[in-house]
Amino acid sequence: MAKIRTALIGCGRIALSKHVDAALSNSEKVEIVSVCDVIKERAERIADTLESRGARRPEITTSSQHIFNRYDIDAVIVATPSGTHYEISMLAMSHGKSVLVEKPMALSTHHMNDMINTARSRNLKLGVCFQNRFNPPVQELRKKIESGEFGQIFHGVISVRWNRNESYYRQAKWRGTWKEDGGVLMNQCTHGIDLLQWMLGGKVRRVMGLIKNLNHNYIEAEDLGVGIVEFHNGSVGLIEGTSNTFPENLEEVLTIFGKKGTVKIGGLAANRIEVWRFENENTHPYMKLPDPETVYGSGHIALYRDFFNSLEADKEPCITGEEGRKAVDIVLGMYLSSLTGEWVEFPFHFSTEQMGDMNKSGH
Ligand SMILES: NC(=O)c1ccc[n+]([C@@H]2O[C@H](COP(=O)([O-])OP(=O)(O)OC[C@H]3O[C@@H](n4cnc5c(N)ncnc54)[C@H](O)[C@@H]3O)[C@@H](O)[C@H]2O)c1
Repeated sequence: MAKIRTALIGCGRIALSKHVDAALSNSEKVEIVSVCDVIKERAERIADTLESRGARRPEITTSSQHIFNRYDIDAVIVATPSGTHYEISMLAMSHGKSVLVEKPMALSTHHMNDMINTARSRNLKLGVCFQNRFNPPVQELRKKIESGEFGQIFHGVISVRWNRNESYYRQAKWRGTWKEDGGVLMNQCTHGIDLLQWMLGGKVRRVMGLIKNLNHNYIEAEDLGVGIVEFHNGSVGLIEGTSNTFPENLEEVLTIFGKKGTVKIGGLAANRIEVWRFENENTHPYMKLPDPETVYGSGHIALYRDFFNSLEADKEPCITGEEGRKAVDIVLGMYLSSLTGEWVEFPFHFSTEQMGDMNKSGH
């Protein structure tokens, strides 16, 4: 089967640290034929890295439109700032390209609707980078959920206790802004919130949230978020996310409580089973897994495999637009609830751009 000719748009931190590896590890399926960044040197750096690791040197461009106009490119990976995902993905799809977009797929409910509808109406694939779904312990937990061994699931908790300091925000101006990013919930916690909702049934009835900016007066958005999610099946999710953990990243912990099972996945980034209790089981081989080098883990490799398989076989990727929006909807619901002080019933419409500057509004 011919390789899927793909372009990478946005050649910053995540592109360099994860997408290059993911593409090279799936080189029998995918070839990055063009790399694009508005800062040319960044695109060159990715091209150099691909070439030095044995791939054919891709074309370098600063114009995404040039990529959209190329008929010989079938898929586009979008790894630009979050506030640009919508426009770039929509343009790519309007030119007939399938899209694998970094998380969060967009920052507004209307934008997510448009992306999903465009992919469907044009018969294109839209995939979202929630790579932690492919973490081996997470996959093990999901199998237990699917097999029904938990019995009724009562509640689940996600705690993301990380640290993001001033230098992280100074590296890129878009981070921590309402227009382009959001705060710790939208940027760092969407992965964990996605895992929580995936395990608890996915269909949300209502959300309550409280967000604060306590320690980052140089960004607009929140550095602490807490929330409650009630699902249609009666189970309840609790969310705690902070970028204030002293002095560095501590852990990302997902705990699921069911009638016949309790599982806790912890480690730096939900990468290690800490508790595994079912009627006849109280241990698991993944209890000793080491922490990954970074909180991003290594799920991009499996995620690419799944996405490019879906293009090859014309089937849905595991994390479609419909799946990818669920965590974003929860975060947007928490933001809206924090403004109104009330539960947000689903479905609703909201966008991060409707949030004011929290520091000015006294949150
Ligand atoms: N899946 C994960 O675990 C994970 C981890 C980190 C970041 N991300 C997501 O990846 C995205 C990028 O994050 P990052 O940390 O790499 O940011 P970054 O700022 O390091 O990189 C973004 C790059 O996009 C370029 N860019 C901006 N606008 C562009 C445009 N219109 N066309 C082409 N290039 C453009 C910038 O010049 C920059 O090089 C964000 O949405 C972020 O949430 C995901």
